Amino acid sequence: MSEKLITKKAVKQVLRDYWAELRLRPWQSTIALIAPGFGSILVFYVPPLIIAKLIDIFVSQQRVSFTLPVIRYIVLFAFLWLIGEILWRIGIHFLTRVEALGINALSKKSFALLTGKDYDFFTNNFVGALVKKSTAYPKNFETVIDIFSFDVFSSVIPIIFAFFILWQYSPWIPFILITCLFILIAIALPLIRKRIKLVAQRHDALSKMVGQRSDSLTNIMTVKSFAKENYEAKIFGEHVNLYTKKFKETADFQNLRYDTIVSPFYVLTNVIGLIAAILFTQNLGLTPGTIVVVFSYYANITRVFWGISKIYRSIESSISEAAEFTQLFVDPPAIQDSIDAVVLKVEKGDIAFTDVDFKYSDNKVDDDSFLSGFSLDIKAKQKVGLVGPSGGGKTTITKLLLRFIDPESGDIFVDGQSIKKITQSSLRREIAYVPQEPLLFHRSLFENIAYGDEDATKEDIIKAAKIAHADEFINQLPKGYETLVGERGIKLSGGQRQRVAIARALLKKASIIVLDEATSSLDSESEKYIQEGLWELMKDKTALVIAHRLSTIKHLDRILVLDNGKIVQDGTHDELISQDGLYAKLWSHQAGESKELSDYVLN
Ligand SMILES: Nc1ncnc2c1ncn2[C@@H]1O[C@H](COP(=O)(O)OP(=O)(O)OP(=O)(O)O)[C@@H](O)[C@H]1O
Ligand SMILES: [Mg+2]
Repeated sequence: MSEKLITKKAVKQVLRDYWAELRLRPWQSTIALIAPGFGSILVFYVPPLIIAKLIDIFVSQQRVSFTLPVIRYIVLFAFLWLIGEILWRIGIHFLTRVEALGINALSKKSFALLTGKDYDFFTNNFVGALVKKSTAYPKNFETVIDIFSFDVFSSVIPIIFAFFILWQYSPWIPFILITCLFILIAIALPLIRKRIKLVAQRHDALSKMVGQRSDSLTNIMTVKSFAKENYEAKIFGEHVNLYTKKFKETADFQNLRYDTIVSPFYVLTNVIGLIAAILFTQNLGLTPGTIVVVFSYYANITRVFWGISKIYRSIESSISEAAEFTQLFVDPPAIQDSIDAVVLKVEKGDIAFTDVDFKYSDNKVDDDSFLSGFSLDIKAKQKVGLVGPSGGGKTTITKLLLRFIDPESGDIFVDGQSIKKITQSSLRREIAYVPQEPLLFHRSLFENIAYGDEDATKEDIIKAAKIAHADEFINQLPKGYETLVGERGIKLSGGQRQRVAIARALLKKASIIVLDEATSSLDSESEKYIQEGLWELMKDKTALVIAHRLSTIKHLDRILVLDNGKIVQDGTHDELISQDGLYAKLWSHQAGESKELSDYVLN
């Protein structure tokens, strides 16, 4: 499983996507982002101004008492603070809308992007990790926008206001503050940058941990049957330990390096602020209230800067978490519709492989391609059986035809049209495919069968189930067609799952049928019954039928024997039997086996 670190491109993509969501609702977004900032001015920066006025009044009166001007200032104090609170409520009102709509759109988008990925992608990524990443991507939109509204803009806007006020007293006051802050930033920035790497490693460790957990749980029956709970716990434990190590490294860096180095400068800035306020009041003839304003503004602003690393940390971790999702899309999918892809229209339904070279990307054997110069012509409506030793490439050929994988060179044609020049969806619509290990949705049997045709009526579904001999067992279930089949169809037996998959394929109006060991989990007796259903399915269609059990394909028009990526025999059952080849060998072997079996049963 490849786990790449996050690249700049992925981070930029997150920013672009989030920005695009904000731009869809410019007014609401602007109010959501800046109203809390103006609220903060009234809540945090105006009160010191009013208190300074009160102090100046008391100093000039040389006594503290509730005179009319004092009462007026108190009323103003209450009024402005209240307005500040109202601005916050307005900001949050719009923020909720912008975030809800953004999360909604990004959730849908991420799901569509994921399901649009190709076969290779899903063989290289853990489902658990994909679920985590695609959940974090929309969720962190909320986190990031919250941070910008509550932390970034509600700090920046009041700071601009504060600088303006301080400037009125003397340009030196903000100048000293800015100088101190610049020194602070200069010290902090390289440390912040160093953290980025640590955070990325921590995220990577977390993803691996989540992926491992889901892999163990997906295979829980294997784990249990081998009594390997402890072994799985040990592997998972190692992932947890790595994550803990990275977590500690990141936190220690923050506390022991960053905060330890930077915190004395915060203290110093505030001391300088207090001294400056007293000096300026003394030397520039400012009122004593100025000390209150200058000191509280210095304290507020340095507090904001003290929090900057925390704000930065939150933004960075949310965005890098979201970027784990966009990272999956940095490399374009290996299999894509070409720009001028057209919709496949099948008139006859012939299939041709010409000079196809193919090997799996992670195949250890570098030299020869697995399929090399592979050619095959299947005429329209021909029913072709594909047999051969395990690992010979039978399933690979079906995957090439369905364009789950692309050949390195050579071409595949359906009805004379190269499958690279037609849309993947139109190609797959024309092919009814029953895979080697059919999986079902955790939905009712009804929905699982209806998946082949959204418009199917209840009668159509029951008819298909009858042909596939699924109707018998379904009717015996307490909830019949409404039975939920468990994750991946786990509550059904292998043979039952296959029968449901065949019923589902029967409903699909396709002109090409591909069956990959579609009846392998059935006993010979049940298979015999289903054969009729399969003939019905294949009637007037081109069919490619893979089977280990030769009796399954014996009656087909043509049989291909595939060994190690090469067609070693091609002909009808009778022709192949008469040849001294792999097929005859397999046939006599299986016939022997069934003879042994019947002898065994008879005795
Ligand atoms: N996703 C994959 N990545 C790498 N190698 C693969 C992948 N899928 C299959 N292979 C390899 O390709 C070869 C052919 O596999 P394929 O599934 O086509 O065989 P098969 O003839 O269908 O076998 P079986 O009869 O057991 O189903 C095997 O050696 C297999 O290990
Ligand atoms: Mg196979």
